Amino acid sequence: MFITVFGQKGGVAKTCSSVHLAASWSQQQKRVVLVDADRNRSATAYGARGLLPCPIVPIEAAAKATRSAEIVVTDGQASSNEEEMKNLVEGADFILLPTTTQSRSIELTIEMAQMINKYKIPYAALLVKVDSRKEAAAENAKECLEGFDIKVLNVQIPLLSAFEQAETEGVTVDQAIDKRGRANPRRMAGWSAYCAACKEIEDLYEEHKKLNPIQSPIGWDFTPMEQRVSA
Ligand SMILES: Nc1ncnc2c1ncn2[C@@H]1O[C@H](COP(=O)(O)OP(=O)(O)OP(=O)(O)O)[C@@H](O)[C@H]1O
Ligand SMILES: [Mg+2]
Repeated sequence: MFITVFGQKGGVAKTCSSVHLAASWSQQQKRVVLVDADRNRSATAYGARGLLPCPIVPIEAAAKATRSAEIVVTDGQASSNEEEMKNLVEGADFILLPTTTQSRSIELTIEMAQMINKYKIPYAALLVKVDSRKEAAAENAKECLEGFDIKVLNVQIPLLSAFEQAETEGVTVDQAIDKRGRANPRRMAGWSAYCAACKEIEDLYEEHKKLNPIQSPIGWDFTPMEQRVSA
């Protein structure tokens, strides 16, 4: 399964989401590769200490590195280059659009969804950085996105200082520690939210596969020549 995480807005937790989805699937003993498709190489920087549970490879090295992977998570970059986005969409089985409750982020997700709709690739928005003191904002964001027929994952990723602490240490949020070296008390809330997102994505992808048997996006027939039945 190829999952691509992207969005046009910067700082909406694309890298954080890619890292945590990849890590959560890795913990379930799946063979996962995280592909860094962002020119800033933020995912690579996140994992530079070697403390994440899956390999992270730059997009240029992805072909060989992903040969035996079961799940490939791609961290896309904030971009409005139509050609670049088209390629990322066509190369994915599922697209995740992390979205904050800010109106600009919602608008850009709606624009992005309209672009993705041209392809038959399943996608969903994931509400991220949701402030527990502003539940109404998250509810409004969800309603607004659903009003444009955009699937929104039920789980929401809470706004937690633990995520920044984890990134500083190069670990996932479940291992976040504060400046005094103490475990962040809310760290597991962040971790279990991403684990729940993995499950929802798998279910949506399975549902989509049942309704749309997979076809090669680039039109190749990989059936060995001798097994092909002539029309
Ligand atoms: N749920 C969260 N709560 C609090 N901080 C978060 C959360 N998710 C991500 N962050 C922090 O927000 C910042 C931006 O996140 P991230 O780098 O993942 O965004 P991005 O969309 O990949 O940005 P860019 O467009 O620059 O690639 C980081 O410092 C990250 O640690
Ligand atoms: Mg990023």
